[in-house]
Amino acid sequence: MAASHILSQPPSFSKSLKYRSKLSLNPSILKATVPFKPTSRTLNLRAVLSQNPAKTITSDTQTQKFQHCFTKSEDGHLYCEGLRVEDVMETAEKRPFYLYSKLQITRNVEAYREALEGLNSIIGYAIKANNNLKILEHLRSMGCGAVLVSGNELRLALRAGFDPTRCIFNGNGKLLEDLVLAAQEGVFVNIDSEFDLENIVSAARISGKKVNVLLRINPDVDPQVHPYISTGNKNSKFGIRNEKLQWFLDAVKAHPNELKLVGAHCHLGSTITKVDIFRDAAVLMVNYIDQIREQGFEINYLNIGGGLGIDYYHAGAVLPTPRDLIDTVRELVLSRNLHLIIEPGRSLIANTCCLVNRVTGVKTNGTKNFIVIDGSMAELIRPSLYDAYQHIELVSPSPPDAETSTFDVVGPVCESADFLGKDRELPTPARGAGLVVHDAGAYCMSMASTYNLKMRPPEYWVEEDGSVAKIRHGETFEDHLRYFEGL
Ligand code: LLP
Repeated sequence: MAASHILSQPPSFSKSLKYRSKLSLNPSILKATVPFKPTSRTLNLRAVLSQNPAKTITSDTQTQKFQHCFTKSEDGHLYCEGLRVEDVMETAEKRPFYLYSKLQITRNVEAYREALEGLNSIIGYAIKANNNLKILEHLRSMGCGAVLVSGNELRLALRAGFDPTRCIFNGNGKLLEDLVLAAQEGVFVNIDSEFDLENIVSAARISGKKVNVLLRINPDVDPQVHPYISTGNKNSKFGIRNEKLQWFLDAVKAHPNELKLVGAHCHLGSTITKVDIFRDAAVLMVNYIDQIREQGFEINYLNIGGGLGIDYYHAGAVLPTPRDLIDTVRELVLSRNLHLIIEPGRSLIANTCCLVNRVTGVKTNGTKNFIVIDGSMAELIRPSLYDAYQHIELVSPSPPDAETSTFDVVGPVCESADFLGKDRELPTPARGAGLVVHDAGAYCMSMASTYNLKMRPPEYWVEEDGSVAKIRHGETFEDHLRYFEGL
């Protein structure tokens, strides 16, 4: 369970819901300390730690009940904070649309901030998860930094007012022109390969600025997630292998006017549901840091990336909270007097949003029942791309005589891969009924396309005072035609 959910209120209370800065969070777990031990200079650690038997989460964590900013009340209606989603549907410019709770975003950031108390840290929000400008401005106002993977994400972060010296530029194929902008702005840059190092050196020369760099090292810890979102293994296209570490240290030493090595970075993957995995990686990373320091580098940042999973299944599973994550690396970070950088995307934004759809109709073919909705893989591709599960429910009560059946929930796009959910037990919905896909705040709108000329949907959020505000216009057919003007 994400601790950040625990202030979600049932609809009857949510009108009086006020911003609370003090969340009570789960107590610490897995608090083993690794003593500071000078290591040899072989620079060749193996990821043996990931083979340790998984530790279990304490019962304190398990007793906290999952709650969500979207709640089904006893009247059978789905609410977002205090508002009936069905009512919001009536006022939306078009469907499908994304609906967020601003308060849930606040609560999620607070959960991380509280967890990080006592540590020097940067919460680098991974903009790729959701690049809505209004959301970015809100995250920036709460003190977040940003994690960027393109020049445009950097430009957007600057537009949203992020402090560039709390931003980190990542990526295995960073372009020289984007690196020049990053160097000019004083952004941290992660070195990903030999050619990336060369480009960073060039960018430093072009901009006349020394660049603060971190080495992105693949600790080869298995994150136990879908292969498409696993990144820290030895055959990954990201980062460098530890065998090459000495080469990179020598290369940095050879460019004292262009590069200042300030830290080490790793990112294991996404949707990780065991904090031991982060700890295993952090143990390896601080050992690398020890070895790097032994060579005279004054490096002070450990960046453990993002990747914390969320409860997509809504089935009462107990998932690690931000506090669980931070507590599992806290002593390690303190023992080396390090600044901790984290790069959460999903765990900050996924559970704050639903994709709200309307049922176009219901049909049966062979042994399959289908609910056909207006939303599709164009607006939300995760189920099609990763076979990802996102919880689906109807927004209002069904008539008592509605038969419950097993449905595939599909869109109108001309692809059999166009599904939002498979084999879901749902009451047979009436045409026009509202249906939501939950946990759609991360990697949904930001991965949306205009396939089949389904234009990207509008976005709304419920403000702190319970009003609904549009935070992004829906794209229109006219927007599409504009790309051909004057040709
Ligand atoms: N840092 C780096 C270097 C990353 O590559 C990522 C995500 C993050 C941070 C943020 O990870 P998060 O906390 O959000 O898990 N499209 C996929 C997820 C791709 C994640 C890519 N990297 C999905 O829909 O599940």
